[in-house]
Amino acid sequence: IVHSFKLNTGAVIPAFGLGTWRSKPNEVRDAVAHAIKVGYTHIDAAWVYENEDEVGAGIKASGVPREKLFITSKLWNTFHRPEQVPLGLKDTLTKLDTPYLDLYLMHWPLAHVNDGTGNSVKDETTGKSKIDPVPVIDTWRAMEKLVDEGKVKAIGVSNFNITKLKALLEVARIRPAVNQVELHPYLPQDELVDFCRKEGILVTAYSPLGSTPGPGTVLNDPVVLEIAERNGKTPAQVLISWAIQRGTQAIPKSVNPTRIEQNLQYFALSDADFKALSDLNKSRPAPTRYVDPSGWWGVDIYSDKWDGVA
Ligand code: A2P
Repeated sequence: IVHSFKLNTGAVIPAFGLGTWRSKPNEVRDAVAHAIKVGYTHIDAAWVYENEDEVGAGIKASGVPREKLFITSKLWNTFHRPEQVPLGLKDTLTKLDTPYLDLYLMHWPLAHVNDGTGNSVKDETTGKSKIDPVPVIDTWRAMEKLVDEGKVKAIGVSNFNITKLKALLEVARIRPAVNQVELHPYLPQDELVDFCRKEGILVTAYSPLGSTPGPGTVLNDPVVLEIAERNGKTPAQVLISWAIQRGTQAIPKSVNPTRIEQNLQYFALSDADFKALSDLNKSRPAPTRYVDPSGWWGVDIYSDKWDGVA
């Protein structure tokens, strides 16, 4: 099993990292520090997780020098206007207390109206965040500038489908290095993963454990449990191994020291076990997506019909 991937920029990115979404501010500092101490070299953050300052404090507390780490963060929807892009990054860099990012992602192919503080303005009748019709390419051009200025080493996207990637690839000067999307055996997105592989875009699997473990979720699937037991591993280790073995980067979130250590111990699955996991979705009526903000935003964000503007 591999421990790193190469980005289309030539940079090396760890195959594995720590996710920080829904990590509470009073927990995430210690989680990040612990993870780095036990060998994590990649931390995945985002402006909207409202914990970047603690993530930064955890990085500092680990005592590991910045240049030994790979740090990713994401531009929030309210900073899509070209003049806002550097401001979104600046706030992230200040909070993470770092002079640069290794990777900066456009969090969603959707812009929201900024109230001046980074929060979105709500529509008075619907209560939903107001959409700002900023074309993705305008935001991307401003992100390309951040690379030129050396503030970020690579740029990428998140939650992009094939249609939106194709549109971006047609006009991008700097090609996206990464597309970070929800991926696990209940939502394998084979077509998207294949497309990205052919285009030289690394895919990062978020929520590789199914986001909120519980009965009926992928972490408790009988096939996953059986493979774990037979290999003397945990279900989480099986899912992380599957993600990395199919060539996608995995960034499971945990704030628990034992689970943080456990998740780092991914391993090589046999061909048969790998195939069984890859086929899991085929016997289910439909893929299961755990993360979908479409309802909050009043747009069908994953649909091909959503053109990224309005
Ligand atoms: P916790 O932080 O308490 O460990 P995802 O990355 O798929 O979104 O999943 C994160 C969820 O899985 C969190 O609720 C996290 O909780 C939990 N989790 C992380 N690692 C493990 C593990 N090894 N076994 C079981 N649950 C885990």
